[in-house]
Amino acid sequence: MSNANTPFVLPRFGEFLPTRVIPGPMEGVTEGEFLKILTRHQWIRAWWTPFLRISVAVPRAARLRDWLAQYNATGLPILVQLMGTDAPRIAKAAAGLRKLGARGIDLNCACPSQIVVGNGAGGAQLKYPEWIAEAVSALKSAVDCPVGVKVRMGFDSPQEFHARIAPALREAQPDFVTVHFRTVQELYRPIPDGLERLKNARKELQDIPLVGSGDLFTPEDAINMFQKCGMDAVAPARGLLKNPRLVQDIEKRLNGEDPPSWSTQEKYALLQEFQTAGTHLGFYLQMAANLFGRDSQQFKNIVQQMPRPSQRP
Ligand SMILES: Cc1cc2nc3c(=O)[nH]c(=O)nc-3n(C[C@H](O)[C@H](O)[C@H](O)COP(=O)(O)O)c2cc1C
Repeated sequence: MSNANTPFVLPRFGEFLPTRVIPGPMEGVTEGEFLKILTRHQWIRAWWTPFLRISVAVPRAARLRDWLAQYNATGLPILVQLMGTDAPRIAKAAAGLRKLGARGIDLNCACPSQIVVGNGAGGAQLKYPEWIAEAVSALKSAVDCPVGVKVRMGFDSPQEFHARIAPALREAQPDFVTVHFRTVQELYRPIPDGLERLKNARKELQDIPLVGSGDLFTPEDAINMFQKCGMDAVAPARGLLKNPRLVQDIEKRLNGEDPPSWSTQEKYALLQEFQTAGTHLGFYLQMAANLFGRDSQQFKNIVQQMPRPSQRP
């Protein structure tokens, strides 16, 4: 396992991203103030957008520009994620986003949301691996940058990976594949054999760079995933809500350094930044609960000090 200064390199393109620790996309989280504040602290070296849903029409260039603006404003390389059911439309949108600066394009075939799956998109595509192969091929023809696919191990069962998903990915040859070790049906429930599953994915896709996803809450979790599963990169997601410095902490651990501890004052200072930025109250309280622990005295104090609804402007 090489150190954190090793960039994420892809066979067709050479250096893709400056780091192999990429914050996983999170709709409703990796946007707005969260994006700005973590970027300002230099805790992140590349962003991965949550999915942009391409449905009835390809969005116009101005709409794509507006959507991408907050990511481009970070000045960091941006991996753009798209989702949908119409491969040619997705490919057209990808071409537009590439022109606007996307460093890479990722196809979401992993989202377990009932609405998304009900529309045949996201994780539902795992039932149609031949569609995934077709969409990757359309994307590779449409853009001159890396094309990735984000999958789960299966829709109902992880056996689907071996039986149908991996063969389609081997045929389609995306530039990289991100594997979240759960199935769609498992949603976010704990599973006992996540790393085993990723090891199997590694065996199935020997020539394709793999990004590992699932339960990366500490630097040790990430080191384990790199070492035990042979991943080329990792994508921590929910862990960033508990520790917004997680990406940097993992990078430090990869370099053999101890991540600095996180003082109570620093946590309060960070919350203050979110408050000053006008973060939505629900998200602010979620951050506070994650940083201090929902049962902590600090969190109880924060809740008590919140203005009562009648006192709020
Ligand atoms: C609130 C939330 C929103 C998410 N949005 C996306 C998304 O837009 N695209 C995507 O590929 N994955 C999305 N994910 C999945 C994460 O990127 C990640 O694969 C998953 O949470 C497992 O990693 P973790 O256990 O480290 O959180 C989301 C997860 C959460 C919790």
